[in-house]
Amino acid sequence: MTHPAVLDAAAALSSFMDLKKGRLSASNTQHRRKLSDLYGVFSDEEARAHKAAEDDETVYESFLTEPTDQPRARALCYSTTVVYPGRVGDEFYMTRGHRHARQDSPEVCLTVRGRGMVLLQTDDFRIQALALEPGTVVYVPGVTSHRIVNTGDELLAVFSVYPLMAGRNYRAVESHGFRRIVVATPEGPDLVPNPKFRSAKGE
Ligand SMILES: [Fe+2]
Repeated sequence: MTHPAVLDAAAALSSFMDLKKGRLSASNTQHRRKLSDLYGVFSDEEARAHKAAEDDETVYESFLTEPTDQPRARALCYSTTVVYPGRVGDEFYMTRGHRHARQDSPEVCLTVRGRGMVLLQTDDFRIQALALEPGTVVYVPGVTSHRIVNTGDELLAVFSVYPLMAGRNYRAVESHGFRRIVVATPEGPDLVPNPKFRSAKGE
């Protein structure tokens, strides 16, 4: 017995990933974040504003493929996130970072190009940084804020799969920040305390 509707959906949701540029051929949602979109995201806000006024570079883009005709409660979607090389002051270009709105939604990420780090932070502010290089697979548990940082001199492309219903909550990151930021030093990328980090206790 055949199920044409199921096979049609499989064809419609299949895609091709450009491994050099990180783009998905069949993405139905795209986001581009330029320096001017990222107010307050970097530790040196003055440097970000100055750089945005001089040359409003794209910091990162994401390409999402979201099924529209699958049962939403159990559907998966997939995306690529491309973070371009660059810095605001000493701080490397990175994503805003988010937690999933549905807190029980994990995510699996595969780095396909470039070098960087993923920062993972729990709601009680335990933080972990994992190095990313092509082939690195990271499991991001639910209830974990995550941010991708490009520490290299070429684009960083990360492919992710997660539940369609996961959603994105930016408030957790905006209100507290990550405990660490990733900066360039003469010895290479380093994790240092984030001067803008605020825990619930006002730490
Ligand atoms: Fe996510």
